Amino acid sequence: MLTRTKRDYLTLRGLSRQELDMLLDRSLRFKESRRRVRRDDVLAGKAVAMVFEKPSLRTRVSFEVAVQELGGIVSFLEEGQVQPGKREAFLDMARTLERYADGLVLRTFSHAIQERVAQAVQIPVINALSESSHPCQGLADLLAIKEALGGLDGVKLAFLGDGNNVAKTLMEACCRYKIDFRLASPKAFFPDSEFLESLKPEMAGTMVLTESLEEALEGADIVYTDVWVSMGKEPEKELRRRIFLKYQLNLKTLRLAKPNAKVMHCLPAVRGEEITSEVLDSPCSIVFDQAENRLHTTKALLEFFLANRP
Ligand code: CP
Ligand code: NVA
Repeated sequence: MLTRTKRDYLTLRGLSRQELDMLLDRSLRFKESRRRVRRDDVLAGKAVAMVFEKPSLRTRVSFEVAVQELGGIVSFLEEGQVQPGKREAFLDMARTLERYADGLVLRTFSHAIQERVAQAVQIPVINALSESSHPCQGLADLLAIKEALGGLDGVKLAFLGDGNNVAKTLMEACCRYKIDFRLASPKAFFPDSEFLESLKPEMAGTMVLTESLEEALEGADIVYTDVWVSMGKEPEKELRRRIFLKYQLNLKTLRLAKPNAKVMHCLPAVRGEEITSEVLDSPCSIVFDQAENRLHTTKALLEFFLANRP
């Protein structure tokens, strides 16, 4: 005869009062022991929740690996599971997650929602990409540039294509380093004037926005590009493919930059659109160094924002 070793918990009445009392006591014990940390694991005892409204490879995996290598726990929540804003209000989701996690990593369409969540919760919120910013990518990019060129001050960086979240984040880097940033893009795709104005008082480097490829690329140490159709911009796909065509990063355009200029792309790339395979796979390309750096810089971010909190 089979013995029944398994029990399910489908309703509260599945447990006796005595069992419930015992479980409540154990829960308190777990709550109290949660903050005991080993010194070498900077995220030991910490949990990170990740909510992504958009797909991801690099950001997701680098965060998951980083948290685990630092001794923490990570919970990745698929958009379809959480359905923020549909199944429940975004803020209700965030205020629930802060009771479980020590940090919230958000990839959202709206940037404003990240600001609202950050206001509403007591735990750090890390932006894993929004429509207007990609700061985790930006830090990895700065590390890649530093490694490739030996420093950041004085670097001439040309960005070809859409003045999007990645471009704007690199422009923000000009507020901290003396980077000579030049965007080559159709005027309609320059970042908005409110954003540009907000940078001005903080500028350490310089910034030129131009429709001319030649002007942007002259003397460039770094040539950076990103997709023409960012996540969420799919309805404008045809228009964007037409309008950005002349800004493609190919061998011909690359020749307009400094000899030995380095090529950067945050990935994913659409080979044959914003960048050709010849360029992406050339010795000038440091795109996979950028990708690798996502892991290292994510660890630094996690330690800085999460580890040293009570
Ligand atoms: N660069 C970057 O953020 O890649 P994923 O969209 O794959 O995370
Ligand atoms: N600009 C791109 C970056 C992807 C990492 C996007 O927002 O889709």
